[in-house]
Amino acid sequence: MQRIYLDANATTPVLPEVVDAMRPFWTETFGNPSSAHQSGQRTRSAVEHARASVATLLHCVAKEVVFTSGGTESDNLALSGILQPFLDSGESAHLITTQIEHHAVLYAAESLERRGIEVTYIAPTREGLIDPTTVEAALKPHTKLVSVMLANNETGAIQPVGKIARLVKEFAEHHATKILVHTDAVQAAAKLPIDLPGEFKNVDLLSLSGHKMYAPQGTGVLFVRKGVQLAPLFHGGPHERQRRAGTENVPGIVALGRAAELATQSLEDASRISNLATLRDRLETTLLATIPNAHANAANSLRVPNTTNIRFDGIDAESLLIALDMQGIAASFGAACQSGATEPSHVLLAMGLTPTEARSSLRLSLSRLTTAEEIDRALEIIPAAVTRLRSLQ
Ligand SMILES: Cc1ncc(COP(=O)(O)O)c(C=O)c1O
Repeated sequence: MQRIYLDANATTPVLPEVVDAMRPFWTETFGNPSSAHQSGQRTRSAVEHARASVATLLHCVAKEVVFTSGGTESDNLALSGILQPFLDSGESAHLITTQIEHHAVLYAAESLERRGIEVTYIAPTREGLIDPTTVEAALKPHTKLVSVMLANNETGAIQPVGKIARLVKEFAEHHATKILVHTDAVQAAAKLPIDLPGEFKNVDLLSLSGHKMYAPQGTGVLFVRKGVQLAPLFHGGPHERQRRAGTENVPGIVALGRAAELATQSLEDASRISNLATLRDRLETTLLATIPNAHANAANSLRVPNTTNIRFDGIDAESLLIALDMQGIAASFGAACQSGATEPSHVLLAMGLTPTEARSSLRLSLSRLTTAEEIDRALEIIPAAVTRLRSLQ
């Protein structure tokens, strides 16, 4: 049975071009980029080529790109890197973030809170959006960092980060203070253009993850705008301009660079993105039309083109997930699975869904390799599975 992979927000397949680019760096080209000899120089130049490719994707300067081990590290480095110095000096500091962040931001914020940072967690609207005026109202003269994700991993809702960042900078200027803005763009990369000098000119730090943009797991980026002082998480060598100690993951970085080049090309080709949106929309509208009492979460918001999150009333999404898996469809419950217990999604709860509604919601996320035939088959399998599960109740 050919499996249908509809869980690209969990991880994307690695594109063949990306595998081809990284392969030599496991075999013949293996020097340490810090070594002075030619083997080292070859890997150094591959790392710097990848850095330039990421900078092209983000329209930033290569020196502003810091390679990390993934989205989680990038988020932790951003929050801790900005706020730890205030804990060290004893100066009071306030962080604003949101209730819909990935746990990489939420738990990093909670950890800082336990250590003495004041934190405000902004609630979303029913449509899963963070209202810029709510962020503005939460700003304080001692706010030091605002962290709002660009696209939500569960609903796909695109947050008005450009507008939020502008309001933050206006407030900071008015109060003659400095407030930095971070955005977790892990689920936006390769789906939306990210224009750092344009729409996001007031964003100071931005996280990416390789395995959400067709590179392997365990690779990531933190964009750090020129002039931003960041306390490192790791202590060791002077790698990444003192911002991230540790010998570089050369094959992973090369892969991320190649994936960034492919993302740049596909964003330039508007038809790629609109094909993805067409497939997602067909999947969503047909499921809503054929299955009674089905509702799309956050569907009235602007969303990334590959994600739909659908609530099937009366269904336990975990049972649906298992039923679909047995029939060859990989989907997601969109919830944290901790110590074996499935919790209802904190994102959907924050949007005002009841725990039962949240538990009946399924996330389907397409990749650029998803085909129309796969969507056709999913549209046969999913309604039948929902009907069967309902009939068992
Ligand atoms: C929005 C968001 N941020 C951060 C992460 C963590 O990234 P990584 O898996 O690379 O650590 C994820 C992964 O699901 C995510 O969706």
